[in-house]
Amino acid sequence: MTDKLIIFDTTLRDGEQSPGASMTLDEKVRIAKSLERMHVDVIEAGFPIASPGDFEAVKAVAETIKDSTVCGLARALDKDIERAGEALKGADSGRIHTFIATSPIHMKMKLRMEPEQVLEQAVRAVKKARQYAADVEFSPEDAGRSDPDFLCRVLEAVIDAGAKTLNIPDTVGYNVPDQFGGLIRNLRERIPNSDKAVFSVHCHNDLGLAVANSLSAVMNGARQVECTINGLGERAGNAALEEIVMTVKTRKDIFPCSVAHIDTTQIMNCSRLVSGITGFAVQPNKAIVGANAFAHESGIHQDGVLKSRETYEIMRAEDVGLTTNRMVLGKHSGRNAFRTRLKELGVEFKSEAELNDAFARFKELADKKHEIYDDDLQALVTEASLAAENERIRLIALKVCSETGEKPEATITLEMDGKESMTVAQGGGPVDAAFKAIDKVVNSGTDLQLYSVNNITSGTDSQGEVTVRLEKGGRIVNGQGADTDIVIASAKAYINALNKMLAPEERAHPQSGDV
Ligand code: KIV
Ligand code: ZN
Repeated sequence: MTDKLIIFDTTLRDGEQSPGASMTLDEKVRIAKSLERMHVDVIEAGFPIASPGDFEAVKAVAETIKDSTVCGLARALDKDIERAGEALKGADSGRIHTFIATSPIHMKMKLRMEPEQVLEQAVRAVKKARQYAADVEFSPEDAGRSDPDFLCRVLEAVIDAGAKTLNIPDTVGYNVPDQFGGLIRNLRERIPNSDKAVFSVHCHNDLGLAVANSLSAVMNGARQVECTINGLGERAGNAALEEIVMTVKTRKDIFPCSVAHIDTTQIMNCSRLVSGITGFAVQPNKAIVGANAFAHESGIHQDGVLKSRETYEIMRAEDVGLTTNRMVLGKHSGRNAFRTRLKELGVEFKSEAELNDAFARFKELADKKHEIYDDDLQALVTEASLAAENERIRLIALKVCSETGEKPEATITLEMDGKESMTVAQGGGPVDAAFKAIDKVVNSGTDLQLYSVNNITSGTDSQGEVTVRLEKGGRIVNGQGADTDIVIASAKAYINALNKMLAPEERAHPQSGDV
């Protein structure tokens, strides 16, 4: 019998550590439900001690999700483990994931601890975590640069202390596939009680090798892979879930384990949901979920595919859920059809008022754009949740004049802290003018780091989805906005980012070394 490959998704934890990718509680629950629909085995919902908001989000995911294990991250510290245990109380199946760094550089420079102290703290943390959960995972952070002899000692000891999963992270994305696979094989062979735990891997993508390293580890005995939707994560990101799953599925002829339990038709929806919520757009040539991944545009390819699909296609678009983005609703669709389709997409309204509000916005959109696709619906709901959060600034009206030979000019009416004001500004282009007009009112002192526009569906009547990234004093936030008018979408995105920036945030980073 083929082993099952455990898919551990960390989009809500490591993914959220990407600059500006922070998500609200409601957004995390929506993504968790989408992962559950995909039958992902473990959902790492966050780092509960980071802030009260993070705690509440892990708690909400734990109480909502029934068919996947919900995991909370904790440093190897009593206070972190207690907080994670508390957040996971309501879970049908909960896991505590505790970690401490084991590489010489991390122990010396970050922890300022001797190796023996680290070993002792790892064991103590696992024993403590077992008081709150039967299912405990341990990670020796920066294992990819740790001394294998020391790793063997630590891992043997934490298995004895009750760890059920040993996760080997390549924290800085330094390893290469043969080496990393060899490390996993070596650890499994040398640790006397290694058969008592599942070996897992968690690879970062700094050298573009996260997926290759993870798969090499699987070939060498790892049976859990930690990954994220769209490869989101710290710096260059984590191994992309969709690439891991589709590789093991497509090449079942060579992999010693199976992902048959994963409903891959949910991949596309989940990918779009994550990129819409975080503002991290998917590059067109990204494997599996990029817009071009299944587009056989060149004449030669088209000819081949028409004669026999297998000529150039190794996977079917339907298998990743591409065909589910069909045109579903239009101007004449009723409330019931609207509610039903959103339910199928995993969105449930908390009240009739919320449904009525979303339906009114849907009708407004359907007036401007006749064919409404799933992606439009997702954007509509994401926008509503963005607007509901921390809204100190509100867009009331925007008029932009753009004419050949003239400087574009924007007239904007905003409400800030309940007070309405109108300003006019000129700019290099209509978007620049609109941003300058907004800044005249808000005076934010932020630095614009990124501005990007994507069309949500195809065609010139498509909604433009704009992402704006702002930085101030080292803090980074992303804002999103969608509209059939891209200048309005841009203003909405800028205002959304400013609202986030104005909301105070005190949050601990799990790997910063501060305790
Ligand atoms: O990259 C890493 O080492 C991590 C650990 C917390 C598992 O994210
Ligand atoms: Zn990581």
